[in-house]
Amino acid sequence: MALRNIVTEGDEILKKKAREVSEVNDRIRLILDDMLETMREYDGVGLAAPQVGILRRMFIVELEDKVYELINPEFLEQKGSIIEEEACLSLPGMVGTVERPAFVRIKGMDRHGHSVEYEGEGLLAKAFCHEYDHLEGILFKDRAIKYWELGTEDEE
Ligand code: CO
Repeated sequence: MALRNIVTEGDEILKKKAREVSEVNDRIRLILDDMLETMREYDGVGLAAPQVGILRRMFIVELEDKVYELINPEFLEQKGSIIEEEACLSLPGMVGTVERPAFVRIKGMDRHGHSVEYEGEGLLAKAFCHEYDHLEGILFKDRAIKYWELGTEDEE
């Protein structure tokens, strides 16, 4: 495995719609391994392929010691709404509040090309939505109700 460079705001790739993964092969598995190593190195909860410069529809999320890998993901259901703070490895030092579904059901393929389906609420739902957005070229700041630099928020 190897660390990959994380693309940050200003790079056009973050605004582009990612293409489907046509074949789940060793190259894709290697990218997923590298993404996991990179995400852990920077203490992230999720990472999408465009964030390491690869414009393909796949992302990973790690929460409560479980790693979710989703290739060509599609939402099956989104319910409710919750407003919480978000951050992103591609927008270092920035925070914002974003409205997201409180519950989602999502399907896709795993690293072996097998169909997988996950349900998530709270933080997991938020992570799935945030990472899926990266595949559409959307950053959390584009959806943010409030957006600020970490440590500069005024006391309310
Ligand atoms: Co992000």
